[in-house]
Parts: sequence; structure tokens; C-alpha cells
Amino acid sequence: MRGARVLVKAMYPGTFDPITYGHIDVARRAAKAFDKLILVVMQNRLKSNVLFSKDERLKMIETVFENDDNIVVDYHSGLMVEYARRNGINVVVRGLRAVSDFEYEMQMAAANKKMLEALDTFFLMTETKYSFISSSLVKEIMYHGNSVDPWVPPVVKRELEEKMKGMIE
Ligand code: COA
Repeated sequence: MRGARVLVKAMYPGTFDPITYGHIDVARRAAKAFDKLILVVMQNRLKSNVLFSKDERLKMIETVFENDDNIVVDYHSGLMVEYARRNGINVVVRGLRAVSDFEYEMQMAAANKKMLEALDTFFLMTETKYSFISSSLVKEIMYHGNSVDPWVPPVVKRELEEKMKGMIE
């Protein structure tokens, strides 16, 4: 094998408003395949009504992965290809929950590759038990006063309870 192996960094972009066990599952599985996984909290222009601030989301994710040596978190407000280009990243990790995710993901992967030829998207099938959840669904369940324990870690549950105090039915 020629020379020293190049360390492979991957990015896992998302709004993570908030992060759920589904995202965490994808991140930890992806982190086994790459030398470093960067969870990039993105500013999604189409989601102006986020519940948690950028810093609140970053802090929750840092707490979740505080013992995961090769998982780090960052923030980016532009296109994910710009983050990849700026940070020498050639891999985007995305989780596929159901067939309904595929068309949108395929479009995004193709557009990203058109903009940055070196960038490939690696898809992981979301763990079946998480394949129907989303951040919005978790917020909706919490809003109606039901337990979100199966879908978010304690740190996220506490932040949800704090943020939604007085809103919960
Ligand atoms: N487990 C649980 N939920 C999951 C999941 C999983 N494995 N994968 C996705 N989801 C949920 C998310 O929580 C999110 O739920 P919400 O809509 O209720 O918040 C939903 O599925 C969609 O997730 P995702 O596709 O990751 O959307 P996003 O908004 O979180 O992030 C980006 C998608 C990164 C593309 C978006 O932030 C973005 O547009 N970024 C900047 C611009 C850019 O680069 N666009 C792409 C151009 S080609």
C-alpha cells in the first residue's frame, strides 16, 4: 500500500431541531466507517421557525457525543458543499428512513456532486425502530404531553420540557 493512509473525514448535515435517537444511530454507525464524523448543524432557509437556537442545538449535540472520540459538531449557514470544500471533506453521510426520503436525497446528492465533483454521499438505512420519527414529530408528541423517551436522549427531553414549558397541553 503506497504511503500513509489519508484520514477520511465525513460530514453529517442537518437542522437537528432537536437531535433524536434516529440521528444519533446514523451518526454512531457512520463514525465506525470514517476517521472523523462532523455533525454539521445547518441553517436551513426553509425552516425559519426552529424551536432551538443554534447554540442550544450545538450544546445538546456536544453533550450527546461527549464520549464519542471521533464525532464532533460544527455549524454552517451556507450550502453544505461550501462547508465540504472549505474543510477538505469528500463524504456526506445521510440517513434514509423510508422510500419517501429517497427522491429528495437523490436530488441533493446529484446537485452536490455537480457543484463539487469530489463529494460523494453515503447513505445509511435508519434503524427500523426510528424510521418513522422526525424532529417535528417528537416536538408534536411533547407538545401534546406524551412521552418522548423512546426517541430522544434525556438531555434533549430536558431541553424540550424547558423550552415548551407553558406550551405543553
Ligand atoms: N432519524 C430521525 N429523523 C430524521 C432522520 C433520522 N435518521 N433523518 C432525517 N430526519 C428528520 C429530520 O429530523 C427532519 O425532521 P424535521 O423536518 O421535522 O426537522 C427531517 O427528517 C428532514 O431531515 P433532513 O433532510 O436532514 O432535513 P434538515 O433540514 O434537517 O437538513 C439540509 C437538510 C442539510 C439539506 C438542510 O439543512 C439544508 O438545506 N442545508 C443548507 C443548504 C444546502 O446545502 N442544501 C442542499 C443543496 S443540494
